[in-house]
Amino acid sequence: MAPGHDTGGGYVTSAPYVMRFHRALNPRRLGLAVLANGFAPLNCDAPYTYMELGFGQGVSLVMLAAANPHAQFYGVDLLPEHVEHARGLATAAGVTNLHLFQISFADLTAQDWPAFDLIAMHGVWTWVAANYRADILRLVDAKLKPGGLAYVSYNTLPGWAAMEPVRELLKAEYDRANGTLPERVKTALMNVRAVEKAQPIYFRANPTVSMRLEHMEKENPAYLAHEYLNAAWAPFYFEDVSREFESIGLPYVASGNLQDNVGDIAVKPEAKALYAEMTTTLQRETLKDVLNNKQFRRDVYMRGPRTLSDAALTEAMACTRFAALMKPSDLAAAKLTTEGATLTLNAPVHRAFLKALEAGPRTVAELCATPALSSLNVNAAFGTLFLLAAMSAVEAAASDGVATAAQVFAERLNTEIDTRKGEGAIPARVSAAIGAGVEA
Ligand SMILES: C[S@@+](CC[C@H](N)C(=O)[O-])C[C@H]1O[C@@H](n2cnc3c(N)ncnc32)[C@H](O)[C@@H]1O
Repeated sequence: MAPGHDTGGGYVTSAPYVMRFHRALNPRRLGLAVLANGFAPLNCDAPYTYMELGFGQGVSLVMLAAANPHAQFYGVDLLPEHVEHARGLATAAGVTNLHLFQISFADLTAQDWPAFDLIAMHGVWTWVAANYRADILRLVDAKLKPGGLAYVSYNTLPGWAAMEPVRELLKAEYDRANGTLPERVKTALMNVRAVEKAQPIYFRANPTVSMRLEHMEKENPAYLAHEYLNAAWAPFYFEDVSREFESIGLPYVASGNLQDNVGDIAVKPEAKALYAEMTTTLQRETLKDVLNNKQFRRDVYMRGPRTLSDAALTEAMACTRFAALMKPSDLAAAKLTTEGATLTLNAPVHRAFLKALEAGPRTVAELCATPALSSLNVNAAFGTLFLLAAMSAVEAAASDGVATAAQVFAERLNTEIDTRKGEGAIPARVSAAIGAGVEA
């Protein structure tokens, strides 16, 4: 596909992005989130079509393609270096189910694509101008199947409110600095820190900004450029993003951050009574964001939401498969830290789940049939496994058929990853058993 003519409206193009796998882009994991909220997940063991918009270096996308050879993966990114890198990874893995397009979001609707089961974008919404967000919404409207999911993450208000004026200052300093991209980023940060050190009223009134600036000094300049120095950068209230997706028939159904779906642990104990009084999704999500000074949201929207009956929900939970990412003995040191609580999941029941999964992936129904877990019903077992998944002790697993077919691609991709050192290192590996990457 020939590149389009739009050049990205001031998105930073002079340095490629960092290498990352994002677990929220894994459709099976999103399925857990959707199911926990009572909606029908995508059947990830049957063929499906997946689109990632703004895939960066393509690490998540290529891993998903390698681990799911029965599905078709599409990806769009503006930067030729990103597309080239993703192509290199795909070639190393030998995948044939990946379709990459070096085009701008402005050219999305001119493409001849199939309808998608899932359209995902991570780290895009905040970082592109309103016209590109409108292009994305048009694509979702035109190409997302009924019952399909849109995943969108973004910097959130109120968590980024104090930083907004300082990002303007940083951007102005970056624009007037000379040199290479890393030099300009360094100069911009140094100049803003000089302002901060004089302790003007704004910085005294907003001490969290200093903490963020300090943290930024340790970050990779290319990451800082993509995060803070694009022409467009806007944090959003949940209300505004959800209204846009709702306007094209996609209400909010879940958070891609698993623990954010569990009301009981998403707010501090002292706020639980107030939270319980909220009757609508908008009220609940808005209250949570304010209480937690939320900085980043991972929203999941569903076209024509498919609510499951109680019986269908239990059946879908019973069929959900999990694989262990930890040994039972690892649970003692693991914690699930949410904005409202820090949980240790090391009771006999948690260890029993991991023990039962030592033999390989199992469905919830199979786990409930093991003697050590037979006192649990399917819903309770799913609830416990959901928390273990939030803590990365377990992950949603692929069927044996999918995992076996993926093995050869996963092995080739992991061999390529093993050769990577320094800047090109990829801090994740792909797992055929879970049908996705796992952060190293
Ligand atoms: C902040 S990065 C996130 C990358 C990746 N999703 C991740 O989280 O690792 C934003 C990505 O969107 C791409 N992008 C920005 N503007 C774009 C546009 N107008 N059209 C297509 N891609 C764009 C950039 O090249 C970049 O890869």
